[in-house]
Amino acid sequence: MPKGVAIVTGGTRGIGLEITKALIADGYQVAAIYHGNEEAAQKCEADTGAKAYKLDVADFEACQKAAETITTEMGEIEVLVNNAGITKDGMMHKMAEENWHAVIETNLTSCFNMCRAVIGRMRTAGFGRIINISSINGQKGQFGQTNYSAAKAGMLGFTKALALESAAKGITVNAICPGYIATEMTASMNQDVLDGVIRQIPVARMGKPEEIADICVFLASEKAAFITGSTITANGGQYMAS
Ligand code: CAA
Repeated sequence: MPKGVAIVTGGTRGIGLEITKALIADGYQVAAIYHGNEEAAQKCEADTGAKAYKLDVADFEACQKAAETITTEMGEIEVLVNNAGITKDGMMHKMAEENWHAVIETNLTSCFNMCRAVIGRMRTAGFGRIINISSINGQKGQFGQTNYSAAKAGMLGFTKALALESAAKGITVNAICPGYIATEMTASMNQDVLDGVIRQIPVARMGKPEEIADICVFLASEKAAFITGSTITANGGQYMAS
């Protein structure tokens, strides 16, 4: 059944690409936001039928303009998935100030920028689905990730506050906390460190991007109308947050 427009930030690679594919399979038109990788963006468009838009999600004005452009070109935005994220790992005593700011701005400030750009029209429409892709490391903390853990934990508070503000307007706001998922991001980790992480996962494997995408499709659906302000963990049992 045809549905409206969904925006997926970081939607042309990794977990975001699978979210793009899954939402398209469910009937949405998807605007897949990318930042730098033109080749991946073109491949995503060709393979999935999504429309790729180049945007720095850390840039407030650019997010406002992108939301206007997407609405004009594709239609009303019903779903926003804040998935774009980067890592710049390092222990606190070695972390450059710029690596703190880059991770906070790209992973957390981006949620404000994108939500601020779409929330007014969702409120007027009386419907919306906002899904924030946080992380297990925002729940439990991670050695070498004070910046990333802070940003991802920040997304959880952000989700709950915006859920409260939006509930009466038919808009749900939820977070998903993936564990270690097989993507380029985890592939760039030191193999010994990654092997150590996998030993801590009770199901004894990394997650698949599709396993996160399927949760997104459910949260976006009418069936999930009573779920808001929630944090859904999908980490193979590595961290059983209540
Ligand atoms: N717990 C306790 N001690 C640890 C540790 C850990 N997890 N990791 C390293 N150490 C210890 C080391 O044994 C070492 O101790 P000694 O000096 O006594 O030998 C000390 O800390 C310094 O370790 P390194 O030499 O490895 O330090 P480094 O500065 O070279 O590297 C690091 C630090 C880059 C942060 C590295 O530890 C690392 O890559 N950690 C993994 C971070 C991680 O999990 N990132 C996830 C990326 S994927 C993602 O984020 C997606 C998602 O949402 C899940």
